[in-house]
Amino acid sequence: MNRSICCIGAGYIGGPTMAVIADHNHDRKVIVVDINKERIAAWNSDKMPIFEPGLDEVVKRRRGKNLFFSTDIEGAIKECDIIFVGVNTPTKTFGRGSGCASDLQYWEATARNIVKVANGNKIVVEKSTLPVRTAEAMERILSQHSQFRFDVLSNPEFLAEGTAINDLEQPDRVLIGGHQTPEGLAAIQALSAVYGTWVPKERILTTNLWSSELSKLAANAFLAQRVSSINSLSALCEETGADVEEVARAVGMDRRVGPHFLKTGPGFGGSCFKKDILNLVYICESYGLTEVAEYWRQVVAINDYQQQRLVGGIIRTMFNTLANKKVAVFGFAFKANTSDTRESPAIAITKMLVEEHAQIVITDPKALVHVKEDLGPDADKVQTTADPYAAVQDADAIILLTDWAEYKTLDYKRIYASMRKPAFVFDGRNILDHAALRALGFEVKGMGK
Ligand code: NAD
Ligand code: UGA
Repeated sequence: MNRSICCIGAGYIGGPTMAVIADHNHDRKVIVVDINKERIAAWNSDKMPIFEPGLDEVVKRRRGKNLFFSTDIEGAIKECDIIFVGVNTPTKTFGRGSGCASDLQYWEATARNIVKVANGNKIVVEKSTLPVRTAEAMERILSQHSQFRFDVLSNPEFLAEGTAINDLEQPDRVLIGGHQTPEGLAAIQALSAVYGTWVPKERILTTNLWSSELSKLAANAFLAQRVSSINSLSALCEETGADVEEVARAVGMDRRVGPHFLKTGPGFGGSCFKKDILNLVYICESYGLTEVAEYWRQVVAINDYQQQRLVGGIIRTMFNTLANKKVAVFGFAFKANTSDTRESPAIAITKMLVEEHAQIVITDPKALVHVKEDLGPDADKVQTTADPYAAVQDADAIILLTDWAEYKTLDYKRIYASMRKPAFVFDGRNILDHAALRALGFEVKGMGK
């Protein structure tokens, strides 16, 4: 077995994960490959294809030394004995399971490619998030090639965007699932050695394949469930005079609950929470577990409700009409510190505002490049500017949707002066100082307050 590693799929997962592995394994060659030529060219340039704090430094440290980005997928499969598969697994948009199941076509294409060009035994590592028991199908495809041996491992990734490098450097755990056979255990050992150069042994958790695959869906479902739980209570807070942040603090101080993922907002976004929960729902349904499926479906239902509710509150507060009113949307990324807008709440909310005939100006420090594609035909009905001060000129309202730190330190006195009156602030993330804004003259509405 040689020590070279490749990863098929140079996206949000493949790029950062392999860069950190290369940084901690100078004696291993790490090759990241993709069918997308532009993406690979960007990884090889001064401007990374994704914005992620700390990523540039790690890539620049190792690129050309033991870290390589290439479109030569077949060459990489031949050269490396450990092959990570980090391709996209979006929600299916056609046929059976449309809108719920995972679309596994990219993943299957990869497995077939591995079989076609492999020139020796390989360890194939599922890095993408996949339905439980996918490894079984992968093994069947790979075993068509009788000459060589393929050991399939599940090694799901738990990093969050915006903190990817830190999460990779100091993971809560690295999960490796494999068959509990001598060959499976040897493959687990080989992969553990890659992480063992920087991750403490006790944080490398090994399990059977199916536990590992399901744990990834379960972890995302639990996290999203917490967000929906607090968002559902934010609605009740608004009716009762309770303050959702005070409630979250009181609940989260119980060590059995913990303080994280209790921040109310415009609903969770990102490429994975919704996709993975819907996938979990689909899997449960396919095993006839209707009640379990319904339970998890509600997590997504509350998320949609939260976005409707936020827009409903804005319309009510602004005298039941937004027609021809200018609103400045602060933030288009699904969370701070990322340029990613996949499933961003800002997309659905902007579309609802367009339906109300509002005049919309969107501002965001990193994500404006995606507005056109994300809004489709509605993109012609909105304006964009990277400058928040330009966005608020003559605006009736600010709707803050992304928790970018820079929005906390803007000159709101200057902003108030440039807006129409009454000037509204809808703080969808509760990150601004509401008392200070009110003192300046703004009418302020937070979430769950
Ligand atoms: P992405 O879309 O950013 O990247 C996937 C890449 O795979 C794309 O660049 C695409 O061109 C490439 N690809 C597709 N088919 C290919 C093929 N046949 N050969 C070579 N390359 C191919 O997706 P992502 O956000 O990196 O997510 C990838 C997987 O990781 C998903 O399953 C996701 O659920 C999981 N995941 C993502 C995150 C995250 O934070 N984004 C976190 C944990 C897990
Ligand atoms: C999430 C998980 O946190 C990662 O562990 C996982 O690897 C990843 O999904 C994945 O599988 O892709 P990510 O989506 O990048 O990571 O970002 P999160 O920090 O989890 O935020 C998700 C969404 O929930 C964001 O829109 C965020 O604003 C929202 N959120 C988060 C809240 O509204 N409230 C909170 O308290 C926390």
